[in-house]
Amino acid sequence: MSAPITILKTAAAAFLAAYYFPVVHHWLTVLGFLRSANLSHIEEEIVQIEDTVHCEDIHRYSDWLFTACEDSFPTRFSWFPPLVIFKNPVLASQARGSIHVIDIKDFKSKRLVLQNFEGSFTTHGIDVIADPKKKGAVYIFAVNHAPHPEYVLSVKNRTPLPEGTPKARSQIEVFHHVLGSSTAKWVRSIRHPLIKTPNDIFAHTPTSIYVTNDHHYIEGHLRQVEVLIPAARWSNTVRVQIDDWSSSNPEAGISASIALTGLHNNNGLGHGPSHEDVAIGSAASGILSLADITDSQQLKVKETIYLDSTIDNPSYFKDEYATEENDASGYVLGGLTKAGELAKSSQNETATEPVIVWLVQPVKEEGKAAKIWNKKIIFEDDGSRIRSSSAAVLLGIDPALEGGKKRAWLVVTGFLSSSAIAVKVDL
Ligand SMILES: *[C@@H]1O[C@H](CO)[C@@H](O)[C@H](O)[C@H]1NC(C)=O
Repeated sequence: MSAPITILKTAAAAFLAAYYFPVVHHWLTVLGFLRSANLSHIEEEIVQIEDTVHCEDIHRYSDWLFTACEDSFPTRFSWFPPLVIFKNPVLASQARGSIHVIDIKDFKSKRLVLQNFEGSFTTHGIDVIADPKKKGAVYIFAVNHAPHPEYVLSVKNRTPLPEGTPKARSQIEVFHHVLGSSTAKWVRSIRHPLIKTPNDIFAHTPTSIYVTNDHHYIEGHLRQVEVLIPAARWSNTVRVQIDDWSSSNPEAGISASIALTGLHNNNGLGHGPSHEDVAIGSAASGILSLADITDSQQLKVKETIYLDSTIDNPSYFKDEYATEENDASGYVLGGLTKAGELAKSSQNETATEPVIVWLVQPVKEEGKAAKIWNKKIIFEDDGSRIRSSSAAVLLGIDPALEGGKKRAWLVVTGFLSSSAIAVKVDL
């Protein structure tokens, strides 16, 4: 090889290394290859919330926390399409996950009796929104990864699954709940060809909701490529308009369209400070995108915030004890300390994925357009008290009760965790 070519090659390699190093470094950091598990709190400080088995998402509404839980080890570890677990559709067809309401005063969890609701329920993301027509009542939207009936039959009868039939027939269930009551009345199901790999829901109004499809591919090699390569921006977010509340046909009385494309692994959705703010978590790339709902009901990303771990469902904490000098408001994000190991550990009932919880706060700066964000770790666990954190909310505490300190209860849920936890954290 001649000298000039060698020099050129070296220069090209150096250029590529310099260009890609930050990208690769961020990727290695996010997936946790450069980090070990940590414990931020001792055992005595952690409240295990009874009867919260495998709850993926959590939302605060008034004095209650709403979460959707699987409630069962056998079904979660044999059927969870978001983790490409399709082992037992027959058992999944008997899954009876549920919606839980947790009282923020005593962290007691109560399973709502789901009236009118038949069929299986494999839980995932939810959202809760006021019923504008009835004071003190809410609509609850919940993803349900039901197995496809054809797949259940094919496994029962040991016949092949017809070509082109997906293993899951994921849909969204809508419930109506009067706050403080012990029931939720099933309203209808929503199913649409554009909703393929639903993960989370953002209810803008009771009749206009956004749903993330976290992946384009349901399984196989391209699915792995899609998870690992941040440039594989093949996921999308769909808007669903509900025109008929009473349809017994899940596909009737609704319409759907694509509201956002071009993000990698768009996953969890959360509300922001204003009604038009949508926070979108790109799970595997650790990116929080802040978007606006446009006049044409599309989503437009206005800010991109990079975190050093995978993240999941964002929530927004509004500091009700904020002062001019000290406002702790921000986005709360649960993620995995060592996400690179999830594919293996998610098959294991007793594994312990370590977790990390972030509070992302805007730094106020005079006269600057671009916001700067302060990213603070507020909680870490080795996975023994809470595993696989996927959502977290903060409940502010009056500083007068904490000797002037700014503190809050942090509630963390995990989709593979045997319980959710509450813990007091410093903000
Ligand atoms: C499952 O996790 C437990 C706890 O971390 C570990 O001891 C065990 O070896 C794991 N099992 C497999 C099959 O990896």
